[in-house]
Amino acid sequence: MEIVVFGAGSLGSLIGGVLATEHDVTLVARESHARAIERTGLKLEGALETTVHPEAVTDGHGLAADLAIVTVKSFDTERAAETLATGSFEAVLSLQNGMGNEERLARYLEAPVLAGTATYGALLIEPGTVRCTGLGEIVLGPRNGGTSPVADRVGAAFDASSLETTVSASMPHRLWEKLAVNAGINPITALADIPNGAILEAPARELARACVRETARTARAHDVLLSNRVALESLESVARATAKNTSSMRQDVNAGRRTEIEAINGYVLAKAETVGLETPTNRTLVALLETWERKNASD
Ligand code: PAF
Repeated sequence: MEIVVFGAGSLGSLIGGVLATEHDVTLVARESHARAIERTGLKLEGALETTVHPEAVTDGHGLAADLAIVTVKSFDTERAAETLATGSFEAVLSLQNGMGNEERLARYLEAPVLAGTATYGALLIEPGTVRCTGLGEIVLGPRNGGTSPVADRVGAAFDASSLETTVSASMPHRLWEKLAVNAGINPITALADIPNGAILEAPARELARACVRETARTARAHDVLLSNRVALESLESVARATAKNTSSMRQDVNAGRRTEIEAINGYVLAKAETVGLETPTNRTLVALLETWERKNASD
């Protein structure tokens, strides 16, 4: 299968690199990363160790492939969609954090847009080198739920590589479950500068669990039957599987970059408000991260 990975940062490079062992992959990446890949290939370290030689470009305009995988930050989705719309794809898969990405992509693109979640840990070590810091899984499927031959084809292509992949008929549920995990892990690990596993210990644990409960309650208020128990189990199992990892939001804060707080805890807050629910823990974390972002932007 011909695959374009749009936004090859840490996760995109890891997923694209593993797919490149079986497929014809093009990575759309930053200049220094693309140049290093063109020169010496893409080196994967850790559990999925190998070196592959995908094509790497910096300009994503006018590309054509069977599948475009979008791995940009949620606040860059609109820009990615505009660029992808100048090319041609049979299917598009969002593997991003946060909510609302698929709808934004579908507004610009004619190809079917699939939803996906990824729980692999990935860290960009230097241009041309990415480390797998935790084995996870990919879950993908039609963004509104149900089945489709396109989702099955994409799932089979992922399966042909060593990515652990499940094709799901209930992506809306799965996206809320992943949102709950990100809402519980990302802002706390970023603000306290701790690895993911530290949210399993007091006092971070109660804060993370409160975020997750509020998220699950908001999901249920929007007819997604996510129980507190399932969401909390998911939080604990992802935190255990990625215990030593630095969450994407902690990486962003430590590098002085904008975070995805708006599409994660901010989304929970906004959705809760539409049905008159209070989500005080999420509200506090959003306010703290937004305060940090404002200070960071003015420094
Ligand atoms: O954003 C992240 O870092 C990841 O989605 C997750 C699952 C929290 C693991 O670090």
